[in-house]
Amino acid sequence: MYTEKVMDHFMNPRNVGEIVQADGIGEVGNAKCGDIMRIYLKVDNDIITDIKFKTFGCGAAIATSSMVTDLAKGKSVKEAEQITNKMVAEALGGLPPIKMHCSNLAADALREAINDYQSKKESEQDE
Ligand code: FES
Repeated sequence: MYTEKVMDHFMNPRNVGEIVQADGIGEVGNAKCGDIMRIYLKVDNDIITDIKFKTFGCGAAIATSSMVTDLAKGKSVKEAEQITNKMVAEALGGLPPIKMHCSNLAADALREAINDYQSKKESEQDE
C-alpha cells in the first residue's frame, strides 16, 4: 500500500534530529491521531542551510517529514513557503488516501518554522 519511496524515507529518514540554536522552530500536532512533528531551521542569507525534524508519529508522518526536509533544504525561505502537502505526497510517489492527512503535518510544521523564523527576524530588526 506504500510506494517504495515512502518505505525508503520511513526506513532511512533524512535530516532526523534537532538544531540546538535554530533560527526557527515549528511544532504541530494532529488532533485526530495525536501525532506530533517538530521542524528546526537554520537560515543564512534567506537560504535554508540546515533543517532537521523530530516526529512522534506514524510511518507516513515520518516519511513525509523526511521528504519535506529534503525538499526545503537549500531553498530560499520564499521557495520553501510554497511547499504544500500535495507536493510532499507527490514527491513520495503518492500516499494512500487514508494517510493524506499525515502529509498536512509536514507542510504545516515547515510553515510554522518559517513563521517563527520570520517573526524572530522582525523582532531583531525592531531592536
Ligand atoms: Fe497521525 Fe499519520 S496517523 S500523522
